[in-house]
Amino acid sequence: MAVSMKGKSLISIHDLSIEEVYQIFELAKILKLKRLSGEPHRLLEGKKLGMIFSKPSTRTRISFEVGMYELGGVGMFFDGKSIHLGKKESISDTAKVLSRYLDGIMIRTFDHQEVVDLARFGSIPIINGLTDLLHPCQVLTDLFTILEKKQVLKGLKLTYVGDGGNNMAHSLLNGCSKVGMDVTIVTPSGNEYQPNAEIVANAQANAKYQGSKVEITTDPVAGVKDADVIYTDVWASMGMEGEANEREKVFQPLQVNEALVKHAKADYLFMHCLPAYRGKEVVNEVIDSPNSVVFDEAENRLHVQKAIMALVM
Ligand code: CP
Ligand code: NVA
Repeated sequence: MAVSMKGKSLISIHDLSIEEVYQIFELAKILKLKRLSGEPHRLLEGKKLGMIFSKPSTRTRISFEVGMYELGGVGMFFDGKSIHLGKKESISDTAKVLSRYLDGIMIRTFDHQEVVDLARFGSIPIINGLTDLLHPCQVLTDLFTILEKKQVLKGLKLTYVGDGGNNMAHSLLNGCSKVGMDVTIVTPSGNEYQPNAEIVANAQANAKYQGSKVEITTDPVAGVKDADVIYTDVWASMGMEGEANEREKVFQPLQVNEALVKHAKADYLFMHCLPAYRGKEVVNEVIDSPNSVVFDEAENRLHVQKAIMALVM
């Protein structure tokens, strides 16, 4: 039975029930088919989404804006630097004011707490478009893409190779464990690259419930062994540009290249949220190989986010 998600914010996949996750996927599939066949699907006629960006974006900004247009509404872009949010005006005042104008807010920012506070003080749904901690819209899309390609999620193994402490690693821990996939994080040994302990504990609790596994390792070969999906991300996330040179040295042994992917299943999927630094975290021979689904993944951002917006707004 359909569960109503109207009015709900999407801050973390951890806050969603399994039923809600699959409801998003079912609507995304319908909206994708309607778009392909040119059938109108104006589920948000006249609705307004505010889109606040304190970090750059290609996919998130454009897919949300196009998505709102196709749903019959409008997406309005605000540069985080050009509005008062959290500087001259408190988050709570901003949240209350924006709630009087808009039907929803999508925000990309640094501090995860900003998103939590917007949702706490506002009265409209808040969608997390990436924080330093999480990137839930990306991972819901990744799971939808895996489901399209493999027809199943439960029982598959996804191995993420890279910065275990970044938003992608965290949301993959949340998302894979939620749907009963085994998830392995391969990351360098330093404390700064380890996933958030609370997120790992939540993933382990999900895995216990689902009968799946959560593994954190520093060994890339053992980590990708028999993987159905190999996932990687940039070594220095937005905001860490100053550490990029140092991180290149630390992460070089974790590069996803032809030698490493040989240890996965022959029909493994290669995934990356993009943008990718080709020749750094992944080589062209892998990202351009037949196993790579990175552009389907990028396209699916549109369909999955349209489903999220239609359900919560
Ligand atoms: N994957 C992703 O969120 O891409 P952008 O930074 O281009 O939005
Ligand atoms: N971890 C990356 C993801 C980009 C979509 C970053 O935060 O820059």
